[in-house]
Amino acid sequence: SIFHSFLPLSLCHRRSVSRGSYQLQAQMNRAVYEERPPGSLVPTSVAEASRAMAGDTTLSENYAFAGMHHIFDQHVDSAVPRLQFANDDKHLLACCSLDGTLSIMTLSPSPPTVKVTLKGHAGPVTDFAWSLSNDIIVSTSQDGTLRIWNTEDGRCIREVVDPEASELLCCTFQPMNNNLTVVGNSKHLLQVVNISTGKKVKGGSSKLTGRVLSLSFDAPGRILWAGDDRGSIFSFLFDMATGKLTKAKRLVVSEGSSISSISARSWISREARDPSLLINACINKLLLYRVVDNEGTLQLKRSFPIQHSSQPLHSIFCPLMSFRQGACVVTGSEDACVYFFDVERNTKAIVNKLQGHSGPVLDVSFNCDESLLASSDATGMVIIWRREQK
Ligand SMILES: *[C@@H]1O[C@H](CO)[C@@H](O)[C@H](O)[C@H]1NC(C)=O
Ligand SMILES: *[C@@H]1O[C@H](CO)[C@@H](O)[C@H](O)[C@H]1NC(C)=O
Repeated sequence: SIFHSFLPLSLCHRRSVSRGSYQLQAQMNRAVYEERPPGSLVPTSVAEASRAMAGDTTLSENYAFAGMHHIFDQHVDSAVPRLQFANDDKHLLACCSLDGTLSIMTLSPSPPTVKVTLKGHAGPVTDFAWSLSNDIIVSTSQDGTLRIWNTEDGRCIREVVDPEASELLCCTFQPMNNNLTVVGNSKHLLQVVNISTGKKVKGGSSKLTGRVLSLSFDAPGRILWAGDDRGSIFSFLFDMATGKLTKAKRLVVSEGSSISSISARSWISREARDPSLLINACINKLLLYRVVDNEGTLQLKRSFPIQHSSQPLHSIFCPLMSFRQGACVVTGSEDACVYFFDVERNTKAIVNKLQGHSGPVLDVSFNCDESLLASSDATGMVIIWRREQK
């Protein structure tokens, strides 16, 4: 199912799924994420029923993203390193750019538009994150500041200046307490910031071996992984009551390579319920690790070939994998393609490849019902892909 031709854009704004099936999708989505014992999201019986309803379609059919739904070019000529759909809102998307701004886009009502531009950073914006309720975005910049934005009106609520005046390279919310964010800088420092006060949390700092490029919490917010530009991933135990970090384990993925992306997932699929980590490490491979203990120790499970030697590429787990057979991950690549891999298929793991970008694809994001995939590239283009309707 390799995709070679696009639908004309004029055809693409048409909403091609009835309201009824959108609602069904949303219900399935909620069911799938029903939480079981703390920290272990597993497929529910409702999810299994949904899967039966969907029929045992193959992964390739499930990932037939063919039509381009829309192209955003407001950041053209400056790379868009990160983009992310909002939580539980399938039509709201944000991205950040090396041009110093972020944009929040809405895809409905048609035509898709840039709803608000977040202006204020005095340097390239390296990373951002949505709060759980989508009311706030935090962003980091090479200008040495963390900014907190109101997503409704685009106002900058607070600016937190890095005390070391170093470039800030990545940020993430603590999933269980959105008053806390973790920020990584170019002087190897990782620190927890209380965004209610703009202050660093005592005991919430740690040094890595290089520039801090990537961060990911596990779902319960107990383990944080951080990757640097010297090829190391560190795990930290996070104390929920105090915000303190305790360094636990270190894994050298590849000496001297940049760990540009880390994504944690509590389970992979019905068949493989191991907590896992997906890593991009500038070694022409996407890596999948198993988390083998409560301290975040990693064991390589498998890898997938992509083109990746220097760009800050990112990858994700597909959100709704539980009611399908197999499981899927999606990654950007320096050959300007988006790749979908089935993590459980031993041969021909590649299940789809999207072509349409004209530069390295830096980030990918699914909306909450997987009806749309967004991808961004080093030339500043953002493409919204629509799932093929059968
Ligand atoms: C953040 O802290 C404020 C008090 O400063 C509190 O009202 C709010 O509920 C907290 N939010 C979260 C997500 O914990
Ligand atoms: C963050 O700051 C708020 C407001 O002062 C405070 O209520 C909260 O306890 C702080 N959280 C942590 C973990 O320090």
